[in-house]
Amino acid sequence: MKRIFSGVQPTGHLHLGNYLGAIRNFVALQHDYDAIYCVVDLHAITVWQDPAQLADHTRQVTAAYLAAGIDPKKCIIFNQSRVSAHSELAWIFNCVARLGWLNRMTQFKEKAGKHREQASAGLYVYPTLMAADILAYKATHVPVGEDQKQHLEFARNVAQKFNFDYHREVFPIPEPLILGAAARVMSLRDGSKKMSKSEPSDMTRINMTDDADTIANKIKRATTDPDTLPGPDVLDDAGDLPDETRRERPACYNLLGIYAALSDMSWREVLQQFEGQGFATFKTTLTELAVEKLAPIGNEMNRLTADPAEIDSILREGADRAAAIAVPVLDEALDAVGFLRN
Ligand code: TYM
Repeated sequence: MKRIFSGVQPTGHLHLGNYLGAIRNFVALQHDYDAIYCVVDLHAITVWQDPAQLADHTRQVTAAYLAAGIDPKKCIIFNQSRVSAHSELAWIFNCVARLGWLNRMTQFKEKAGKHREQASAGLYVYPTLMAADILAYKATHVPVGEDQKQHLEFARNVAQKFNFDYHREVFPIPEPLILGAAARVMSLRDGSKKMSKSEPSDMTRINMTDDADTIANKIKRATTDPDTLPGPDVLDDAGDLPDETRRERPACYNLLGIYAALSDMSWREVLQQFEGQGFATFKTTLTELAVEKLAPIGNEMNRLTADPAEIDSILREGADRAAAIAVPVLDEALDAVGFLRN
């Protein structure tokens, strides 16, 4: 059986990176996999969250899942803190994972920044909880944006070491699914930085709930460069954009990648369409497309969050269904470890 698990943190406004790098793929994959989509509120509190806002943001992420087209009957949608198996398994994985593995995590270094002594212990062990999320469901595939690649590798190592140490194949080794031309959407103001919920300036990102005027203004003011748009000769033989090429004009390829993802076109098709054009015309076309794709989702998110009863009941019911899968897996892990339980 192929099973997907993925999650989004309820830590602020969801943006185009979350949509194109993750949520849009969740929608597409629900037809081919048994799918579990989580709102990872336990992960969110690894950095301070205002309690009232945390509840709102949890509903926001749920609304984004639903508005984007995830079917809560077909898939399981729930918030992580409701299923205690995540925390319990994470503790065991804290004892399986090695400090050396955690010390290599680039996301911790980025998030903790210069004030590492002041970072929470939870932020440091964030990856063991993420491994628990995935493995509590024996998920085989995990759709994520490119920034989560290292965390996925960590989860694979945890699964392997657990199975090896306890001489039982309890956990499958999960595969990342990093899909599409926008697996790494960059800031609109700085093509070398990831588009992020935590960036202070709202002009760096397009939020899933931005209205048409806001989207137009942000794209208009997005950083570009003085050249015209490149043609398909920049692609490699496989039709992919080489990293070195992307680094030469990061802002330009970021906007083109967003266009490719939103239009479901390949890099080649997009580069053929816009070769030699200036940014002004391209930005107008990109704005029209972004508004066409995002406005209906944003409107539906606003409708759903205005009366959260439906969201709350979906999360409650989803948590029951999730626990029904996770608890027996946790039991298997507890038995393997040798805890006395009868
Ligand atoms: P979060 O909330 O930071 O991100 C949610 C998803 O959005 C993707 N993403 C991006 N994709 C492309 N471009 C961007 N600029 C961009 N920014 C974010 C992320 O890669 C992610 O897929 N650690 C996870 C949450 C998590 C999780 C899990 C994921 C917790 N447990 C288990 C999968 C499986 C995260 O980064 O959330």
